[in-house]
Amino acid sequence: MALSDLGTALLRWMDAETAHELAIRAIQVLPLPAPVADDPVLATAVGPLELPNPVGLAAGLDKNGVALRGLSRLGFGFVECGSVTPRAQPGNPKPRLFRLSEDRAIINRMGFNNAGLEAFAVRLAARPANAVIGANLGANKDTEDKAADYVAGLIRLKGLADYVTVNVSSPNTPGLRALQGRTALDDLLGRLAEARGGDATPVFLKIAPDLTAAEIAMVVEAALDHRIDALIVSNTTLDRPATLRSPHRDEAGGLSGEALKDRAMAALRAAADASDRRLPLIAVGGIGSGQDAWDRIRAGACAVQIYSALIYEGPGLVGRIKLDLAARLRAEGFSTVSEAASTPR
Ligand code: FNR
Repeated sequence: MALSDLGTALLRWMDAETAHELAIRAIQVLPLPAPVADDPVLATAVGPLELPNPVGLAAGLDKNGVALRGLSRLGFGFVECGSVTPRAQPGNPKPRLFRLSEDRAIINRMGFNNAGLEAFAVRLAARPANAVIGANLGANKDTEDKAADYVAGLIRLKGLADYVTVNVSSPNTPGLRALQGRTALDDLLGRLAEARGGDATPVFLKIAPDLTAAEIAMVVEAALDHRIDALIVSNTTLDRPATLRSPHRDEAGGLSGEALKDRAMAALRAAADASDRRLPLIAVGGIGSGQDAWDRIRAGACAVQIYSALIYEGPGLVGRIKLDLAARLRAEGFSTVSEAASTPR
C-alpha cells in the first residue's frame, strides 16, 4: 500500500470534516514531487482552455485556494478552487459533511463556508504558474441581489485564474438554484458578460443534475446567448436514490459520489443533445474509474472532474484514471481526448 493510500485509510476513521481539513493541510505542507509530464494522447481543450490531461479536481475541496501547489502536483489536468463568496461566512452548523461509506457517496450541507473574496484573491495571486487553476464563484447566503456577488467575484479575480466558474447549482444556499430559471439566468449572464468586457478569461457555468432535459436545453441556449465558454454538468443532487444503504442517507444536503453517477450522466446526455457540440461540456458526478471517465468523454465531455471518489480512493486514483484513459484512447484509434469527445459513437 502506498503511503498516500495508507493516509487515506487512516483519514476514513475520523469525523469527515476533521479528516478533510487534515488532508488539505497534508497536501499543503508535504514536499510532493512535481508530476511527470502527461502522455500527449491525454491532451484536450475546453473551448479556448488547453489542458495537459482531462482529469480535473472539482470545486469544494479547496474552498479557499490554500493548497493549489500541492493539489496541482497530484497529476490533475486542472484544479478548481472555491466556491468563494464576496464576504467570508461560516457556513452551516456542524456536523454538515457525512460519508455514506456503504454507498461510496457523500452528503454535504457545508453552505459555502469560506474566508471571502479578498483572502482568495491574495492566494490566487501566489498560485503556481505551471498549472491550470479555475476559480469557482458563489453568492453569500444573506445577499439579496445574488447576481451582484458573481459580478464582484469576476471583477476581483480578473487576471488571477485560468478560468472562472459561475456556480448556480449548490443546494445549500437558499435561492441559489433559482438562478437557473431563464429570466434570472438572462439577468445574471447578461451582467457577467458586461463585467467581462473584452477580458479573454473563459467563464463556465455549473448546473444542477436535478434539472429536467427541457430545463437543461434552456440553460444551454442561455449560455450560448451570453458567450459562456462551457457547461459543467453537474453539482450534487437533492435526490435520494432508493438504493442508498448508509444510516446517513436522510441527512439534508447535496448527494455526491457513486449514487449520483446515473443522474449526472443523464444530465450530461441532455446537455450534449441540446448543445449538439456548440458548447463544450465538463462532466462531474460519480466518476471513480477510467471506465467512468471514458463513458463521459464518449458522451461528449471534453474533460471530467472528481471529488467524492478521491476521498474513498486517495490521490493514486488520478494516475490510475489517466493510465486507463490513455490505453482506451489508443485501443480505439484516437490521437487525443478532444477527438474522442467530438466523434459520435
Ligand atoms: C462539493 N461541491 C461543490 N461544488 C461547487 O461548485 N462549489 C462548492 O463549494 C462545492 N462544495 C462541495 C463540498 C463537498 C464536501 C462536496 C462533496 C462537493 C460539488 C462538487 O464539486 C461536485 O460537483 C460533486 O461532488 C459531484 O462530483 P463527485 O463528488 O460525485 O465526484
